[in-house]
Amino acid sequence: MTSHHRSGRPEIGTSVDRALEVIGNGGLVALPTETVYGLAADADDERAVRSVFATKGRPADHPLIVHVAEAGLLGEWASEIPDSAAVLAETCWPGPLTLLVPRAARVLDVVTGGRPTVGVRVPAHPLATALLTRFRASGGSGGLAAPSANRFGRVSPTTAAHVAADLGDAVDYVLDGGPCPVGVESTIVDCTVEPAQVLRPGGISAEQVAALLGTDGVAPEASGPSRAPGMLASHYAPDAQVVLVSSGDEALRLADATPGSVIVDHGADLASYARSLYADLRAADLSGATTIIAVLPPAEGLGHAVRDRLVKAAHR
Ligand code: TXA
Ligand code: MG
Repeated sequence: MTSHHRSGRPEIGTSVDRALEVIGNGGLVALPTETVYGLAADADDERAVRSVFATKGRPADHPLIVHVAEAGLLGEWASEIPDSAAVLAETCWPGPLTLLVPRAARVLDVVTGGRPTVGVRVPAHPLATALLTRFRASGGSGGLAAPSANRFGRVSPTTAAHVAADLGDAVDYVLDGGPCPVGVESTIVDCTVEPAQVLRPGGISAEQVAALLGTDGVAPEASGPSRAPGMLASHYAPDAQVVLVSSGDEALRLADATPGSVIVDHGADLASYARSLYADLRAADLSGATTIIAVLPPAEGLGHAVRDRLVKAAHR
């Protein structure tokens, strides 16, 4: 059993062959996606999936997302495909969206935490697509179970170097796909309820989801107690204390009065805020800052996801 000690450097490269070999041997591969890096294992290999939990230090009741090569494979993991899931899969995949659907009987309990649902997503990243397509062609059901490749409760990794810093050689191979272009995790939509509900704001905005489904957009921050385990109040936490402010001017005033502080702000450029957010938080910790003053972006589009992660990072 591995634990989350960071003994040595993991093997890092761009070889899909090597990644396939590691997965086939029951090992763990860091999977580049458009959102964040995942820590991937064969979703049908119970032992490998257990080692994902051990490596992250993650509680067993926080289920994993199953990643597949294409939307047509959803039926292998779902016992039934609700209309909302069919619409969203068709229009948003490959992309930063996870759909919760009723699980097929064959899905391992260790993947779903024993729940009646499974989260499925088709990532939009060329190396992820190549690996998933070849893994499927190698004979099995082709699913890779993967949470974000960080230690439990910490900031998700958006580069191969972040993964190596967090997990060391507890991950057998880091498939280096460069910096993740979206930078925050996928939007999670529960398609087992009517109307479908956004449980985690992410790379696809709640407004987009609502428009595609013809429902009223429920602002994720205003929605009721989330039913997705793992969305704890405190999460995505850097070492420094995070303080939230609502304007750049306020950030400057506070920074002047706060020794050891750094400012995180990308103004109204929501895409760049999301893409840089986790790298900024990590850089602040590495710089030895004790306080991170973060400017909340507008509550629209990708801004919902950035605000959600900042609020969780600030919670102690
Ligand atoms: O963008 C992403 O979604 C990244 C990349 C690697 O795909 N993955 C990711 O996984 O963020 P993770 O495990 O860090 O976050 C997934 C969240 C967890 O809070 C988990 O509890 C929830 O999704 N989840 C997964 N399956 C679920 C299910 N069947 N029911 C309820 N919540 C579920
Ligand atoms: Mg995570």
